[in-house]
Amino acid sequence: MTQTEVPLADNGLYAPLGGGETYFNYHWLRDACPSTIDPQTRERVFDVTALTAAPTARKARVADGILEIDWANEDHVTRLPLDRLEAFAANGQKPDPADLPRTLWYAGHHGNFRRIPQTEVEGNDTGRARLARALIEEGVALVTGMEDSDESLTRLVNCLGPVTPTAEGHYFEVRLEIEPTNLAFTAGPLEMHTDLPGEEMAPGVQFLHCRANTVEGGRSLFLDGAAVAEALRAEDPGAFDLLVTHSIPFFYRHDGWDYRARQKVIELDARGNVSGVTISQHLQEDMDLPQEVLDSYYPAFCKFIRMMQDDRFVCRFRLNAGECIVFDNHRIVHGREGFSAESGARHLRGCYTDRGATWSTYRTLANKGAA
Ligand SMILES: [Fe+2]
Repeated sequence: MTQTEVPLADNGLYAPLGGGETYFNYHWLRDACPSTIDPQTRERVFDVTALTAAPTARKARVADGILEIDWANEDHVTRLPLDRLEAFAANGQKPDPADLPRTLWYAGHHGNFRRIPQTEVEGNDTGRARLARALIEEGVALVTGMEDSDESLTRLVNCLGPVTPTAEGHYFEVRLEIEPTNLAFTAGPLEMHTDLPGEEMAPGVQFLHCRANTVEGGRSLFLDGAAVAEALRAEDPGAFDLLVTHSIPFFYRHDGWDYRARQKVIELDARGNVSGVTISQHLQEDMDLPQEVLDSYYPAFCKFIRMMQDDRFVCRFRLNAGECIVFDNHRIVHGREGFSAESGARHLRGCYTDRGATWSTYRTLANKGAA
């Protein structure tokens, strides 16, 4: 068995990885010791702050692909597989099966939305993983062959996560109402929006189960907000920066509720890629940025809204009875053309689940080899 001594520094050591000697901090290494995680609860049962002295290696060596650290100031040896350090060093974070690149999409993509029959989503892990993966990569998917019942939607949502309620309850019915609480419940056109930005945490993944659609008009409008935002960044970086930097107020109020929250119109992930957008002119509060900032903010905002009406980006299609469109409410922007109320019936049953729950489902399935 060959052994290699590992060079030590004051606050860390240099592990021999494929890309050369790679520095790891002692606190991090001590916390990464496999013994810190309880095998039963899978939670951390070690408190690095309880050590009487900062962790320091007395000696460290590598043998058979294992980094072995003999700690000074405590009677403990840590054994860490080098491939675990390699995987961490590759991205500077723990590998995440749900960390998949977003696929941006544009007008004309409706025919390519991933379509998964309800029986597959409910029947096997592979179908469930396909739906979750589509939501991570494209932000949208169509579940087909939906059973025509209220319970059908509940069963589908629960394949990804629990139903998350809003002020309107656990479910909503998009159809004509005599005294509507929302423009969606009228026959008028619905401008492009994301749902309920007045909530502190706007709903994550939205489901719209089409139960009936025989009206004239009423086509659904969907676009990839991340694609529009990246196009804005390329065409007008100054406008993009304004929408990324400032948050603006939204509301949602009626007789029994008065929600208010601030959101950034464009959000970035840790890598600086667009992770989402928030747009809802019908739930937008009076802009309260300094008036001088508004001199540049409003033109940027208007430009972005106008881009969302551009034929480059918008998919227009009829949602058919028996289909359920599922989409990331923080990325996908949706709307509806007006329709003739007397021409037939139009009914969508909707609800939400968390993005966190959806991503968790995907990771669990990927770890089982189903993704
Ligand atoms: Fe909506």
